[in-house]
Amino acid sequence: MDNITREKTLAATAAVSRIKPNMIVGLGSGSTAEIAVQLLGEKVKNGMQITGVPSSVTTKKLAQTFDIPLITDAVPAKIDITIDGADEFDENLNLIKGGGGALLHEKIVASASRELIIIVDSRKTARPLGSSFHLPVEVIPYAHVIVEQTLCQLGSTPKLRRNNDKPFVTDEGNYILDCNFNTIANPQKLASDISQIPGVVEHGMFIGMATRIIIGSGETTRELQA
Ligand code: 5RP
Repeated sequence: MDNITREKTLAATAAVSRIKPNMIVGLGSGSTAEIAVQLLGEKVKNGMQITGVPSSVTTKKLAQTFDIPLITDAVPAKIDITIDGADEFDENLNLIKGGGGALLHEKIVASASRELIIIVDSRKTARPLGSSFHLPVEVIPYAHVIVEQTLCQLGSTPKLRRNNDKPFVTDEGNYILDCNFNTIANPQKLASDISQIPGVVEHGMFIGMATRIIIGSGETTRELQA
């Protein structure tokens, strides 16, 4: 196992140790969250009863391979703990997510969760949002040209995410605009401005949602708490 995978595994293991029998567990998306799903699968195999709520089609398929019982039709109103990854976080535990394109379902799952535990490797450290990752904004295809123009007026240089030659399409059939805002001075204000643009479905800033960030670091983990 390489160093980064080991750090992801350490963070995922620490997060999964917080899962107790009969919990409803939000299952995040991305390579780090997938390790947590695999570890949860081992718990289920050993007889622990949990119910998972997947945040993407990819995660749903993975969880099914481990026979984790799932709720897939609609997100329940109460989820005990969600374990997910992040592309960036700041010292106030605000996040940028959506590198894998699952930000809409991830945010819905997170919003229902009593605890949102974020797991990352040591390449990710607390820094102002936007300083190392472009903000993903999910838009309905019909609106992507006008939304792109409005996001330019807000100070970014949006780029339509592509998958080979075609626009990348999310689980809900939408497009993603990856927006370079450089360092985001006021995430709350920008989040509010972007949410008001007609045609925007969701943006990748998770403000005040994470309760704990577990960072795999060498042979150990360190944690940030809200
Ligand atoms: C997907 C996400 C992921 O959680 C984020 O991209 C982190 O992924 P990884 O753990 O592979 O670095 O937000 O939409």
